[in-house]
Parts: sequence; C-alpha cells; structure tokens
Amino acid sequence: FSRADQFCDAGLGFDESTCGTTSSSKLLIKGGTVVNAHHQEVADVYVEDGIIIAVKPNIKVGDDVAVLDATGKYVMPGGIDPHTHLAFEFMGTQTVDDFFSGQAAALAGGTTMHIDFVIPVNGSLSAGLESYEKKAKKSCMDYGFHMAITKWDEVVSQEMEIMVKEKGINSFKFFLAYKGALMISDELLLQGLKKCKSLGALAMVHAENGDAVYEGQERMIELGITGPEGHALSRPAVLEGEATSRAIRLASFVNTPLYVVHVMSIDAMEEIARARKAGQRVIGEPVVSGLILDDSVLWDPDFVNAAKYVMSPPIRSSGHDKALQAALSTGILQLVGTDHCVFNSTQKAVGIDDFRKIPNGVNGIEERMHLVWDTMVESGQISVSDYVRITSTECARIFNIYPKKGAILAGSDADIIILNPNASFEISAKSHHTRSDTNVYDGKRGKGKVEVTISGGRIVWENDELKVVPGAGKYIEMPAFSYLFDGIGKADAQYLSSLRAPVKRSQSTNLHSS
Ligand code: URP
Ligand code: ZN
Ligand code: ZN
Ligand code: ZN
Repeated sequence: FSRADQFCDAGLGFDESTCGTTSSSKLLIKGGTVVNAHHQEVADVYVEDGIIIAVKPNIKVGDDVAVLDATGKYVMPGGIDPHTHLAFEFMGTQTVDDFFSGQAAALAGGTTMHIDFVIPVNGSLSAGLESYEKKAKKSCMDYGFHMAITKWDEVVSQEMEIMVKEKGINSFKFFLAYKGALMISDELLLQGLKKCKSLGALAMVHAENGDAVYEGQERMIELGITGPEGHALSRPAVLEGEATSRAIRLASFVNTPLYVVHVMSIDAMEEIARARKAGQRVIGEPVVSGLILDDSVLWDPDFVNAAKYVMSPPIRSSGHDKALQAALSTGILQLVGTDHCVFNSTQKAVGIDDFRKIPNGVNGIEERMHLVWDTMVESGQISVSDYVRITSTECARIFNIYPKKGAILAGSDADIIILNPNASFEISAKSHHTRSDTNVYDGKRGKGKVEVTISGGRIVWENDELKVVPGAGKYIEMPAFSYLFDGIGKADAQYLSSLRAPVKRSQSTNLHSS
C-alpha cells in the first residue's frame, strides 16, 4: 500500500524530523550529467536552503552536507506540468486527487511543479481564487494558477486586472466546449483576448466547437450509441480543427499570443503549424494521453475499462498520436502537459447508460516524465536537452518564471530529478500514488527511471519511497508580459501606421459616368 493517502492529513507526523535524509538543508549531487535546455555537461550541483548555489565539476564540501551520487545518470530540472485539475468540481462530482495526493503522485514521477486551473464561482474570479487558495493549503510541492473565464461583464474585466497585477496569475483559459457549463461565445472570446493583450496575460483555449459537439451527441443518442465509444464519435477531430482555427484567427485579429491546451488531433496541430509558419505566436500543448494512446480502448466491452479513457477532446484514432510526437520533436508543438483530472470507476459509472454523463478526464501527472522519456528520448526522436525543454524549461519560459524554475543554474530553485537511463519503469494501478482506482497507462513499461526527486532542496522521492510534507509547497506568482509579448507593440504600431497611410485616388476615376 503506497498510496499518497497514507501520508495525508492523518496526523502521521509530517515534520522534518521524520523525513530522514531530507532534514539536511545542504545537499551535493555528485558526478551526474547535468542537463539544461541549452547545454549539458558532467558537473556537481550544490544546494543550500532550497536554492542551487553552484553547478561545476569537483565541488568540495564538509561533512554537514548530504551527498547523492549521480554518476552515469542525468540530473535535470524537475518537471513542470502546465495543465492539471486537482480538487476540481466538474460534471456533478469532484476529482479524487486533491492538491496533496495529486502532488505526491507528481513528485513520485519527477514533476516538481504544476499549474492548475482556478474555476470562478458563479463567474466571480476572486471567489474562485479564494476557494483554490484553500484547496492548495495542503500542497507538498510548488504550484501556480491559470484562471478560467466563464462569463463577461465589467466586474470580470476588472477582476482579471487584479488577478494579473496583484495575484500572480498571467494566463486565462477560455472553453469553446462544454455547452451549458463552461462554454463561452466568440463575442466573449474576443473581449477576453483584448483584455489579455492589454494585461500581458496569455490567452488559453480549449478548442472544440461546443455547439457542434452538442449536435454530435444528440446524433449518437438517436442512433442508440450510448456507450463510451459515443464520446469519441460525437466530437470528431474536425470540430477540434475548426475551433483551433477560429481561436487562432481571432487571436491574430487581436494580435495577441495564444496557447492551445490539450492538442489531441492532426487537425488542430496543422492549424497551429500553419499559423506559426505565418509568424503568429501560437503555443501548442499536447498531453501525454494524446501522444501515446489511441481510441480503440473506447470500444472495450468492459464499461469500466472503456470509461476510464473518456476525456475531452477525445483520444483520437491511431495515427494522431505519432503525428503529435513528430510535431513535438520538430518544434511545431512546444511542451507537454497531462490534463490530469481523475475520477474513480464509481464516478465514471454515472454514465453507464449515457456517455454524456461520464465525467471527463484521465490521469498522467505521475506518468508524464517517464512516458515522455520513453516515447520521445528512448525512441530517438529527441535529445535529452529537448526532453528538458518540453517537460520543464519551455513551460517556465511561457509562464514567465524562468530561470527560477526550469533550469539547473546557480540561483534557480532546487527542484531537481535524477534519472537513470539504464533502469526501467512499470506503471500499475496497484502501485501508483494517485488516489484513482484505475490508470490509463496500466501495464506500460519502459526505459528510464526517476530515481530521486528533490523539491525545494529536499529529497522527497528516493528508493521508491515518498517523503512529502503537506504545506511544504509554495504558491509561485507568475508575472505578466512573458517573452511571447516582446515586439507585439511594434507590430501594432506598424499595423496602425499602415491603416493611416493616405490613399491617393485619381480624380479621373468617375463612378457616375455610366
Ligand atoms: O476531459 C478533460 N479534459 N477534463 C478536464 C477539463 C478540461 O477540459 O481540461
Ligand atoms: Zn479543456
Ligand atoms: Zn484540462
Ligand atoms: Zn452614383
């Protein structure tokens, strides 16, 4: 029994003194290959009080320093998951992983920070934030917040400003799907894009055409297709492509950067590729499920097994996965998330007679670092440096917290993993650390194992054991105007001056002559 619950809220004594090796505030990681997104070298890493103090060969220390030998292994920045839903109230229920259990699972898999989505309460951003601040009190690793925008008025517009200027939130998600719940109109999206631009905040979209999805669902029910396969059939990739294209074109019209979350299809990826080729600032985030799984599982006659794969946009047919991997390896897509949003089989069973009621979401926060390593690095598709970029550094840059996060550099936070490329991993619902009773990657094995996770300078994962402390995680404020906004003002000025250039019309043009 190794679930996070055994560490959680039960008065089991989570103080530093019960945490063995982790009590030292000085740590030396010796002899590993230190990998950053731009460079790798064999070096030692010296950490004091949660901060990396030095990265260089042959650092000498006294006996008061705990030493970890990383010879033959990779020393890399801890993963940053840009897309999670912990303690999320959705589709009439709540995810089983909260900020403690989800983060404990993350740490066991080498992820040391995540960014979760605050959902407004009745459209109120401040009430939403207050609720998420409470949920996050038990955090055992660092976290940040995006915020969803679910309605539009003057109050929301002003609250967005407060979120950015006072609360450390620099990104807002707009749902183009979930009609009747989170979905917003194009008119709202346009207002939101303009507001994001003025604040230097990044607009994010869930890109599926929600009206058409609704239509597709009715169509399936009328055909008598009520099982989990109806979920995939009702919201085909064309609807993801349409919404991605629409959001990209509206962002181009406003001239503001756009981040497309959970890119699941070739259709959406190609819209992103086209826009980037034309010079537009569009970021594409594939998630692990879309990179690795295919939709055949939704046809499994066993409802529990099929329902666990229900998420939106849906997992696509075989072929989309490989195409998304290729796009990631060539820079068309920039970073990998999980959309970790976990419901137990009893919660999924609410939709046994109607796929529309199956709570949407799959796991991944614990598996991402291993599966991306195995799928992308072990297969030879990307370099180890690129692995660091797509699992950590690029996320830190986009959300403007680099190089505090996403780097092994003097001055960076000591969020570090040691990965043994010669060891192997195996994923199992029996031994994972999330509270979920299922795992969409159950039985998957691969090369490469995160043997040590260091969070804020403390060893929290070693010898397959978690040593986590509720409350040890810190809220990471993310400042506005990331690199994605550099030059936006210049492009606007050029556009405006082009509009104001006088048009010379010849006097001889006479439209009244005929
Ligand atoms: O199915 C999903 N993706 N659940 C989480 C909510 C979202 O759309 O990100
Ligand atoms: Zn979404
Ligand atoms: Zn999500
Ligand atoms: Zn006339």
